[in-house]
Amino acid sequence: MVDTSVRFSDLLLDNPVVPASGTFGYGKEYAELYDINLLGSFSFKGTTLTPRFGNPTPRIADCTSGMINSVGLQNPGVEEVLHSVLPEMRGYFHKKVIANVCGFSIEEYVETARRLSEDESVGILEINISCPNVQHGGMSFGTDEKMAYEVTRAVKRAVKKPVMMKLTPNAPDICRIAKACEDGGADAVSLINTLLGMRIDLKSKRPVIHNIKGGFSGPAVFPIALRMVYDVYNTVRIPIMGMGGVSSAEDVIEMMLAGATAVQVGTANLKNPYACKEIIENLPKAMSFYGVDRLQNIIGEAH
Ligand code: FUM
Repeated sequence: MVDTSVRFSDLLLDNPVVPASGTFGYGKEYAELYDINLLGSFSFKGTTLTPRFGNPTPRIADCTSGMINSVGLQNPGVEEVLHSVLPEMRGYFHKKVIANVCGFSIEEYVETARRLSEDESVGILEINISCPNVQHGGMSFGTDEKMAYEVTRAVKRAVKKPVMMKLTPNAPDICRIAKACEDGGADAVSLINTLLGMRIDLKSKRPVIHNIKGGFSGPAVFPIALRMVYDVYNTVRIPIMGMGGVSSAEDVIEMMLAGATAVQVGTANLKNPYACKEIIENLPKAMSFYGVDRLQNIIGEAH
């Protein structure tokens, strides 16, 4: 009998598998397919202070072993999430959820995080300073050490729940950003968000994505994500939620060996809506095969 449970900050997760923000909505569509209470938790769609329609289409481009998205933080806004979405979610998901928070100013991050933190379903706040698809917000906070420190500190002062900062691989040095977040009081970091990329349509000779560039994700980025988790583990003492191209139980184990305490699964959900369920079901067999009794014990073992 293997033990898949992990402690991540304040949360004891039955297993480390967590669908990534932006690939799982607020869980409702997936709950119609399987009992999503088997997940460790899930991170809901990046939520902003006011509703957002998102970017003009096309927003998606196909790539070898991955995809590019430029959704632009489409979401119903914090008010609707608190008063309608989360009360409904409690009917089909009975664990603590991860609230992904986006903003365009420090004040917006603080206000949205503060309001979401007061909801009983929210276990951890994931502060998204890494969205590549909006101007003046998201990634601009996550590529600047001072900004990353400031937003972390401001949110930490405003909330009582654990704060996890979601980092971008597009920063010049992700380790310095992780350290700035830790210095600002972050309880955890999650990484990596998508890599800025683009495609050009050969017939029209124009960029495929309306906004020209978008975030590249999928199995192709796994080795880059793994390397960054490995490096950040050497830099900070707070727990890491690793993500980037994870699509199998073996990938989860590899991420944890690199230093992740829990692992988010993103693009794989879009290809196969049962991806997380299958990964969780395959974990015990993969653990036994590689001689792992307890997942919590292998965190950072590759170092
Ligand atoms: O465009 C989007 O909604 C993506 C958000 C993100 O990558 O954080």
